[in-house]
Amino acid sequence: MVKIVFLTESGRRPQADLLVAGCFRSEGLARELTALEPDFALSAKTAVKRHRFSGKFGETLAGFGMKFREAPEPMLLGLGDKAKFRNLCARKTAGNLVKIARERKARHVRVLLSSFVSPEVSLEALVRAFTETVLLGTYDFKKYKNQGLKEKKPAALTLELLVSSGRELPRLKAASNEARSVAEGVIFARDLVNEPANVINPQTLAVAARKMSAGAGISCRVLGGKEMSKLKMGGILGVSQGSLIPPALIIMDYGRKYASRGTVCLVGKGVTFDTGGLSLKPPGGMEKMKYDMAGSAAVIGTLKAAAGLKLKRHIIGIVPAVENNVSNNPQRPGDIIRMFNGKTVEVLNTDAEGRLILGDALSYAARFKPKTIIDIATLTGMCAATFADQAVGLMGTDEKLVSKIKEAGQESGERCWELPLWEEYGQMIKGKQSDLKNIGGSNGGTITAGMFLKEFVPEKTAWAHLDIAGTAWCETPRHDCQFGATGVGVRLFIQLLSGNLL
Ligand code: BES
Ligand code: MN
Ligand code: ZN
Repeated sequence: MVKIVFLTESGRRPQADLLVAGCFRSEGLARELTALEPDFALSAKTAVKRHRFSGKFGETLAGFGMKFREAPEPMLLGLGDKAKFRNLCARKTAGNLVKIARERKARHVRVLLSSFVSPEVSLEALVRAFTETVLLGTYDFKKYKNQGLKEKKPAALTLELLVSSGRELPRLKAASNEARSVAEGVIFARDLVNEPANVINPQTLAVAARKMSAGAGISCRVLGGKEMSKLKMGGILGVSQGSLIPPALIIMDYGRKYASRGTVCLVGKGVTFDTGGLSLKPPGGMEKMKYDMAGSAAVIGTLKAAAGLKLKRHIIGIVPAVENNVSNNPQRPGDIIRMFNGKTVEVLNTDAEGRLILGDALSYAARFKPKTIIDIATLTGMCAATFADQAVGLMGTDEKLVSKIKEAGQESGERCWELPLWEEYGQMIKGKQSDLKNIGGSNGGTITAGMFLKEFVPEKTAWAHLDIAGTAWCETPRHDCQFGATGVGVRLFIQLLSGNLL
């Protein structure tokens, strides 16, 4: 547990265990530090002069043995070049702070907030980045671990954010509370993804979305197999055919009264487990495929966060939920299916199932007359091969939307990198006996998947596609995630939807 509280420099306060001030490379000490802790500032200046501390990112310099005012151990934390200190750096710094506090078994860590401000990261952005990172970095999915319940939890830690004047307090406290709502959305998404596929299937995913919606004042409708048969959603039905668990199309509707600003549809891939179908995946690593509904979790988590924040936007979440499995009557390679928008598809590989269910969901979005549609999916292994876990694959038909998503990626720390959707790639998914085939060649897999989706986007709608195959799962601990689902997409979407980015 980490608590975040605010203190003002003028107020009285007991000593903390640790005082941390940020220090940029070749920038000198923060003015406030000199005023607050003059003895430490003096010795720190000497250390800089003697090249014992340069302000390199992550570097530390601690003071000991004096009667300091704020804490027995004041410390400088290197932040690197000031001009390069972007939002993601602030988040990594927050992760560092928690790590440092834990290593020293500190219970109260006082942070001189103004010393971390850079041209790219305002005081308010810092508060958001710190709050989100601290809440998410301490999340751990341990509900199935009997032993884990008995394990000693780390002692509660309080981060005291010290600001210079009380005037900015209301604004910063509000920012921190908002960040908490965002983190709750991310955590909701993580929980859904971390749950194994014997717990979260298309039906239980729909129940979870319904329950969340009911609690948050969001309206939620779920279409079942029968309704989808009537609608002729050949993509969703085709994939679902190999599973004993019926499919669901989950539709969540938030903030209808703000529709005049333009409705946004978020479409999330909800494959609750991807065996590959008859084009079976190799066993190595197949267990990870419970994360194949991470796109849907991002959408559901975003709606939860949007409601928590009372965002003034009309957002519709659409989640096609299926299990891609084999039974006694699965979809076969070579099957030709007719999608909801009438286009026919040769299913040359049953493992390229995400685009089939998303195709139907994207065309279905037309009925909400959205200005913008963004889909999010663990769509291609090739996206993970390209970007590893460092970037979301971004494609789209609307330059403005794409550039706004890039911007939101920088601000939220969920960076997105664009790939082209050039006409020429379309040739690679033209069918021989049908309009389309569901796989391209062996190269360009992330792009041909995007090209496939483009065929199903309603006309005159700004559309973008996010491939999160590489970013939805965390293998080694990092600043904001220990292991498992990252909840990627929620922070990005909220950043995009708040303010006037979109
Ligand atoms: N869910 C997978 C994407 C995936 C695969 C993510 C491996 C992470 C690791 C998707 O449904 C899939 O199987 N895609 C295939 C497409 C191929 C058959 C054209 C892939 O990427 O291998
Ligand atoms: Mn697949
Ligand atoms: Zn899949």
